[in-house]
Amino acid sequence: MATVTFTGLNMPKDMTVYAVAGDTGTLLALAKKHDIPIPFQCQDGECGSCLVKITYLDGKTPMAIDLTEKEKVTLSVNGKLNRDLLEAAENAHRPPPYRLACQFIVRDETILVEFSGEPGVE
Ligand code: FES
Repeated sequence: MATVTFTGLNMPKDMTVYAVAGDTGTLLALAKKHDIPIPFQCQDGECGSCLVKITYLDGKTPMAIDLTEKEKVTLSVNGKLNRDLLEAAENAHRPPPYRLACQFIVRDETILVEFSGEPGVE
């Protein structure tokens, strides 16, 4: 079971939600399902509105580190993914800190999701 805690400047308090096995949608879909106000526009990895910061809390090897090609481009254009971070993700299995909620697939792990509530600002 995934345990996802959302914390946003536009939220009155943090909220933890649980995603059961088989509920392997995007982080943005999970947020929308629980009325978490992560900003979004395109929902397709192109606008960068859904930028979030992910912290892995359970000490296990992170699973959801594969970035889509759109996510790589959008994060790079917005200064959130440089060559070192990309190489670490692809070669050393170390996830980058910033992700796009519409591209991040929720896995069976415990994560903290931080966002500002401003589109494209973590
Ligand atoms: Fe546009 Fe996620 S909503 S990149």
